[in-house]
Amino acid sequence: MSTPLPPPYDRTAPNALGAEVRHDEKARFDFLANLNVHLGSKLFPGTKTAFEKRVAPAFKKTKGRDLANRVEVRDAMKGDPVYQFWAALRRNTMEMRQQAGRSVVYRQFDKLTERARALNDAKPTLKLDPTTKIPRYLAAVDNHCMPGSYYTEIAPDDISGPANYDIGIFVTGAGASSARGDSGGRAIVKFVRESFPDFKPKRIMDLGAGIGTNTLPIAEAFPDAEVVAVDVAAAMLRYGHARAQAMGFNKVQFIQAALEDLDFAPGSFDWIQTTMFWHETSMPTLMSGLKRVYELLAPGGMSLNVEQPNFTATTTLWDQFTKDWDAWYNNEPFWSKLHTLDYPKLMAASGFAKDKLFDGYANSDVEPGFYPDWAKVYDRHGPEKSVEKAQKRGWYLFGGWK
Ligand SMILES: C[S@@+](CC[C@H](N)C(=O)[O-])C[C@H]1O[C@@H](n2cnc3c(N)ncnc32)[C@H](O)[C@@H]1O
Repeated sequence: MSTPLPPPYDRTAPNALGAEVRHDEKARFDFLANLNVHLGSKLFPGTKTAFEKRVAPAFKKTKGRDLANRVEVRDAMKGDPVYQFWAALRRNTMEMRQQAGRSVVYRQFDKLTERARALNDAKPTLKLDPTTKIPRYLAAVDNHCMPGSYYTEIAPDDISGPANYDIGIFVTGAGASSARGDSGGRAIVKFVRESFPDFKPKRIMDLGAGIGTNTLPIAEAFPDAEVVAVDVAAAMLRYGHARAQAMGFNKVQFIQAALEDLDFAPGSFDWIQTTMFWHETSMPTLMSGLKRVYELLAPGGMSLNVEQPNFTATTTLWDQFTKDWDAWYNNEPFWSKLHTLDYPKLMAASGFAKDKLFDGYANSDVEPGFYPDWAKVYDRHGPEKSVEKAQKRGWYLFGGWK
């Protein structure tokens, strides 16, 4: 089988704030996206062979029994040279991606800050609240190796972290992120349109919206709806709001608030979306947060969550170990516990009726014309998750109606 290749960085949409990405910088991003593909499709399968042929048999020989859980698998794999090679490189692609993006942004720090300031100036659609508290679980680590995580600011009106986040989405997704990095939001829109064609939400909240990458496709698909992007991090909203304005989305509101302190009346929203949000929170926040989401929905409203799928009874120890990897080596502390949960049970415990719950997979959707003929949509984590392979490729989602 030939290896799928990511499209060239050149095919991504120009940065909305006008950040210049030079030839050598694009080449660096292309190298990293391709290295990610190579790691996933060529090196990673070798780690499974090492597990089956070397590590698991050696464990059995020494202990007189099979490996019993994913933590034992991790401990046993740590000493294997093929695994060490893959794991070190995978961690490194993440670190290199961050540094590559930062150098692009820092080179034009003042220009980008000024551009965002001009786009944000006196706009009622951006509401920042300097009293917002960064939750402890978010402040504890630099999420997925992002220096300073989402919220750190190093200068007045700083947008450098989010600008880096935006410019490098291409690498993080190994080129499968579509021209504007919004393949998730596009997939959500397609799923909602196909699954619930009569759904006409008037008020939509995207909770943990970040820079609004995946909010804007929703706003575009439901132009009559009021769309509110909520996030705890001021820098993300500052950049996201400026980006939205530059792209012509001047009605989308960007509001700073922690989920824990959301100040909206019960029943305010017809749709509350979360995309890759819950895994960056904590167990108490997930439990109280789902209840809050239920409360904030109007009768007939929908909660839709794109998230990591949970382990099932048939998820092998190997799959559990590989899916857990980011918890240990990519600064995603809640990732491991999250996989063991049962979303329908949590939704039901939060107020949702069991017969109004749903889950499934939304196929990734990339902008037409983004990929040259020879490029393929590459799922960065595809080779690492045989559990969801084949028909289940795409974005896992769960939700419920009120
Ligand atoms: C992985 S990002 C996802 C961003 C966006 N949904 C997307 O699809 O691109 C998670 C976001 O959740 C935000 N966040 C984390 N905890 C939060 C909380 N308690 N309340 C509001 N936002 C939070 C972070 O600041 C970050 O921007």
